Amino acid sequence: MSLKDKNILLGISGGIAAYKIPILIRLLKKQGANVRVVVTEAATRFVTELTLSTLSQEPVCKDIFPDSFSTRDDWTRHISMGEWADAYAIAPATANTIAKLTAGVCDDMLSASFITLRPNKPRLIFPAMDGEMFSSASVQRNLSWLSQNGCTIINPESGDLASGQCGKGRMPEPEAIANIIDEAVKDKSHDSKLCGKSVVITAGPTREKIDDVRFISNYSSGKMGFALAAAAVARGAGVTLITGPVHLPTPDGVDRLDVESTEEMDLAAKQHYRSCDIFIGAAAVADYRPANHVAGKIKKNSKTMEINLVRNPDVLTGFSKQKTLHQLAVGFCLETEGNLQNAREKLTQKKLDLVAYNTFDGKTSGFEVDTNILTLIDKNLEIHELPLLSKKEAAERMLNVIEELISSDKKTSDE
Ligand SMILES: Cc1cc2nc3c(=O)[nH]c(=O)nc-3n(C[C@H](O)[C@H](O)[C@H](O)COP(=O)(O)O)c2cc1C
Repeated sequence: MSLKDKNILLGISGGIAAYKIPILIRLLKKQGANVRVVVTEAATRFVTELTLSTLSQEPVCKDIFPDSFSTRDDWTRHISMGEWADAYAIAPATANTIAKLTAGVCDDMLSASFITLRPNKPRLIFPAMDGEMFSSASVQRNLSWLSQNGCTIINPESGDLASGQCGKGRMPEPEAIANIIDEAVKDKSHDSKLCGKSVVITAGPTREKIDDVRFISNYSSGKMGFALAAAAVARGAGVTLITGPVHLPTPDGVDRLDVESTEEMDLAAKQHYRSCDIFIGAAAVADYRPANHVAGKIKKNSKTMEINLVRNPDVLTGFSKQKTLHQLAVGFCLETEGNLQNAREKLTQKKLDLVAYNTFDGKTSGFEVDTNILTLIDKNLEIHELPLLSKKEAAERMLNVIEELISSDKKTSDE
């Protein structure tokens, strides 16, 4: 009974599946939820405001401008629903409304409430449309953006569609939607400080070409960066994972960019500098690259061979040099000598908020293996020593410390 006394906002846009929403309202009310409804103009062609307000026992909101400005609430109508809601479900979400939400359009109560909803509250999007519309490039691109930015997309089911065709586009039945809302309200990931944040993570090794068939690289498997990406998505963050060549599946919900060299990784990272809240440099980038890349294959016609190396860009420093007060930079420092001092220096020199000192023993900690031993040093020089853990658990512990840093930064800026 997690819905009891919860404030559930329903956004209805103009799709035929709107006929299912009156039943949904009854189900939510039966479970003790407070339900308010916002509709688009087109939605009112499919389901009447009278039906919706009768069942929800609340007036239905459509326009940002009320008929008159008489009560205090009238002045703040455009933000009031977003502030009130414990969860916002947009069902059905038309292709048009999905595009508006993606673009930040804010010209009716449904779209305004989406923008003003508190960042840690569940945003549930139920696309419902014809199969061809659903698979179109624009709808898929927009849904992917929404998923990257804190929304949960409930993919439509396959079956008979209102168009008379059969395909993927059917909105789930009211009982299923009520269960999804119930689970979302229970789900503590929305309480995470990372919910709605944009996180960029670099992972894996890079390859620096010597000629067309040979390269310089290292043993990084990418496992730590991928574990961080999966853990951050589970906490409601939008995650972009910029990875060098690895043999790992992409965690669900993560936006993955594959690169090869450090210069390519640097370029991809720069495109996300401004928009991200947290940048985690978990990649083991090659510090140097061959000064010249030889076309074809170098012949072995001499006993020795020299390769001139030049410094690569420092991807993490590039970010931390230009970061704003509200962005966090997190780095790794892999050492074979067991010297915490190097990690401290890296923290200050690179202006990081957190550094993970990573011991390398070649067996349980470091590259390729599934476990790691990390010592985290935060910007206040507080040390968080972690035992031998799976990389998955180590990622969770790192994110806990990042969340603490977000909370303490917020407290400082509120004071
Ligand atoms: C009978 C009918 C059914 C429709 N069903 C859908 C639908 O299921 N999904 C959808 O994305 N658009 C559907 N549309 C198109 C939308 O109503 C149209 O794009 C409208 O501009 C959406 O406005 P809104 O997003 O502001 O509600 C339908 C239109 C008609 C006339």
